[in-house]
Amino acid sequence: SQPEQNKTPIMGWSSWNHFWIDIDEKMIREQVDVMVRSGMKDAGYQFINIDDGYFGGRDASGRLLAHPRKFSSGMRALSDYIHSKGLKAGIYSDAGISTCASLWNADTIGNDVGLYGHDEQDLALMLKDWNYDFIKVDWCGAEKLQLDEEIRYTQLINTAKKINPYVIFNICRWQFPGKWAPVIADSWRISGDIRPTFESILNIIDLNADLWQYCSPGHFNDMDMLQVGRGMTYEEDKAHFSMWCMMNSHLLAGNDLRNMTSETVEILTNKEIIALNQDPLCYQARRLIDHGDQEVWAKPLVYTGSGEVAVALLNRSAEECEISFPLDSVSIDAAKRYTYRNLWNKKNYPVETASALSFKVPAHGVIVLKIQGSSIPFNVFQKALKDSK
Ligand code: DGJ
Repeated sequence: SQPEQNKTPIMGWSSWNHFWIDIDEKMIREQVDVMVRSGMKDAGYQFINIDDGYFGGRDASGRLLAHPRKFSSGMRALSDYIHSKGLKAGIYSDAGISTCASLWNADTIGNDVGLYGHDEQDLALMLKDWNYDFIKVDWCGAEKLQLDEEIRYTQLINTAKKINPYVIFNICRWQFPGKWAPVIADSWRISGDIRPTFESILNIIDLNADLWQYCSPGHFNDMDMLQVGRGMTYEEDKAHFSMWCMMNSHLLAGNDLRNMTSETVEILTNKEIIALNQDPLCYQARRLIDHGDQEVWAKPLVYTGSGEVAVALLNRSAEECEISFPLDSVSIDAAKRYTYRNLWNKKNYPVETASALSFKVPAHGVIVLKIQGSSIPFNVFQKALKDSK
């Protein structure tokens, strides 16, 4: 396992956004194959996460079953297949008696498939016998039982980590759960379910904006699974992906990998944008300039004070517009000279001393720059890090 300071957000694919409970082992295996073949694995994607819908009730002894027809080879055979391709496997459950989908589909997947009353038994099955490396634990069933979130998730995380200390544990609430979550979990949702609309993307960005101080290596605000390649425009998909990278959310593709356009592949495998997400400093981008529809977000890279910073210019409006920013607003000392690179069109710009930069940003679009220069001493990022301690 990685040492704590190198723990960056996980990358992979999850079944929910596209397939809901309409999942089976053949389809999942096909996603695995495309993840390898498409270049996504090479770009860093690793996890194949099976969300709600794989269940087939419980047997007389209470043992949880996979769906007999849709997962007829069993969950272990599937994780073995995933591991055989050099990838990792993820699974899903709920803190209560039922999962969200099993409440409405009890006839097909069983209504008592949640962890409640089966913590040890189910977690040992999933994380040891079935050998899954990641677990997302939902709250639909727990909501019905009116359980205390902090107490319940603490029990579950302690049990899961006792069984496998390296398991990645994701809390699935539909808002920031509270300051306790970053202390115990690897990631925690901060919003309701993402939809493939630009409005939904902006809503989640806004919900996460003030939560940046809860992000640290190994502990991330989860902005939900990606909607890239699921109906938004090219510019919207780029803006969505860029902001998930800037804000250190885990990157779980939510589209059907078997039917990707070349534009979708290009976005999901942009290694320089992904590198911002995987930067070891794990500093979640902050909104440093807010002119309503025009925003400037920045994220220092590697070491605060090194003078390397990623900047995203986000245009929320439906019209192209010009966004400018003074270099000192992103803590770069322009007088000491700097260079920059546009990470989407891959253009390098020569040495500059201009004290402000300005770009045309497409409607619902983004420009992402990586700036290298000298940082202003005691700059906005260092100060904020100190204040949040
Ligand atoms: C609600 C979660 O927020 C979704 O991501 C998904 O896991 C569904 N539940 C599954 O029922």
